[in-house]
Parts: sequence; structure tokens; C-alpha cells
Amino acid sequence: MTVYFVDGQFVEKEHVSISIDDRGYYFGDGVYEVIKVYDGELYTSEEHIARLFESAAKIKLAIPYSEAQLIEMAKQLVVSNSISVGHVYMQVTRGVAPRVHQFPTPAVAPMFTAYALDGARPTEEMQKGVKVKSVEDFRWLRCDIKSLNLLANVMAKQEAVESGCKEAVFVRDGYVTEGASTNLFGVKDGVLYTHPANNFILNGITRQVVLRLSRELGVAVREEPFTLEAALVMDELFMTSTTLEVMPIIQLDDKMVGSGRPGEITLQLQKAFASQISTVVAGA
Ligand code: PDD
Repeated sequence: MTVYFVDGQFVEKEHVSISIDDRGYYFGDGVYEVIKVYDGELYTSEEHIARLFESAAKIKLAIPYSEAQLIEMAKQLVVSNSISVGHVYMQVTRGVAPRVHQFPTPAVAPMFTAYALDGARPTEEMQKGVKVKSVEDFRWLRCDIKSLNLLANVMAKQEAVESGCKEAVFVRDGYVTEGASTNLFGVKDGVLYTHPANNFILNGITRQVVLRLSRELGVAVREEPFTLEAALVMDELFMTSTTLEVMPIIQLDDKMVGSGRPGEITLQLQKAFASQISTVVAGA
């Protein structure tokens, strides 16, 4: 039995019904979050929920729950669905109303839905590393909002997958921004580079954890944009996300990264991230 959270109720999946007039369906008019579950415990849930509220505020959408209520709801989904390792997905749309572009008047209640799903950590890929493909970043200029509008990300990821790659790396005006659903990092001469958190990227929660761990490990960090050309000659490349954790990149387009094996600093960060998970989960 799979239990979803829909509009204030816990409902079995086969009994879920969503209106065809939901603005998420017509316009992608909403925001979302993905929270990892390790050992039945939510990881960095407060940070994810805070970002959900920030994304919602940026599109002038008021979430009809408190942060604490949403964390409680997510915990309940984990328990009801007996999730050990997996994630909780949640989204909120501007609600159900006849299709006109502007916000509905009178205002309607937002539609909040969530589910929890099993999913193993990608340990094999984390050991071996993966290939990525550069694609033009033709997204809008508010990539800091975790919006349901993911068409450009979907197109980019599909292009990458069709080329046998794990992820697409967006390039805007010659500069690498982020992946289709990940943040990107490079290491050159012992210095860690990543795009600054501005409107061109989503400020990943995993990105923020990795930046903190890097500083703790004494790795110099520079949050500054770098070009595709610079990325192609980095000693190491890796990407981060809630689901991929710290994922080494061993090939970018036709170019092998470093020695073609996961880099030294990447592996150090992977290890630090893994022990961070156990500490947080154990203490949760
Ligand atoms: N994606 N950049 C983009 C465009 C993303 O969609 C994501 C997350 C990230 C990494 O953020 P975080 O570390 O907070 O997961 C960066 C999620 C996992 C998804 O869409 O499934």
C-alpha cells in the first residue's frame, strides 16, 4: 500500500485524484522539494523545507502549512510507506481554477501533494564516476527558484541520456552553470570551484553541505563561474544533489577528466559527506 499526502489528507495512491484544472498541470505553476531519507530519517529536512518556503515566496505563493507541520507530514509518509533509504517528494501549486494565466481571482487554496519512495544510494556510480554532456543553458533567468517548470531540464537530461551520459551540464554564455538536476564542481591545482549561488543556479542543499565540508577539510573554495574550456581541463569534476550525493565525473563531452578515475578531493568529500550522513541520521 502506497500512501500519498494530498490536500491535507493521507490517501492510498489508488484513491488519489487531482483536478485537471490544477495550475501545476496547465502552467507548472508551483514549486517542489526532494528530501533524502537515510535509515528511515529525513536528511537536512529543515534546509529543504526552508527552501520550499523561499521558492514559494518568490512566486508569491503562500504555503498553507507551517515548516514544522511539513516536517511532521514528511516523517509520517516515511513511516506509513516503510521507507528505509529513499526520498520524500513534495510540491505545491497555485491550486485549481479555470485556465487563465494570471493568478485566480478570487484566490483559490494552493494544492499540496507529497509522497515517499524507496531508492538505493547510487554507490556503484559513486565509486566509478559517470560521464556528462554539455548543453546550452536555455532556461529562464530565475533558476534559483525550485519551480515545477522543468522543460528545459527535461530536454537537456534527455539529450545527455541519449548520448550515454548520466547528466547534462548547462553552459550559459560560455560559462558552466549547473547540471539539469545537480550542481557542478571542479578542482584545479587543489582549489575547489563552483558557480556562485545567484539567479543562474539552484543553491543546492548538498552544494551547501559540500562547501562547508570543503572548508572544514581545509580545501580552498572559490565560488566563481568558470568556462566550459576551463571545465575541460579541470583536474577533477563532480556534481552534487540530494539523490546523487557527491558524484564523480570522469568524462565531459569527449574529454576524459584527470586520469579518468574519481579524483582525490572528490573522494575525500564523498567520504566526509558519508560520515556527515551517519552523524546527522544517528543524532536525528
Ligand atoms: N534536483 N540544481 C538543480 C537544477 C536541481 O534540480 C537540483 C536538485 C540541484 C541540487 O540540489 P539539492 O542538492 O538541494 O538536491 C541543483 C532534485 C534532486 C530533483 O529535481 O530531483
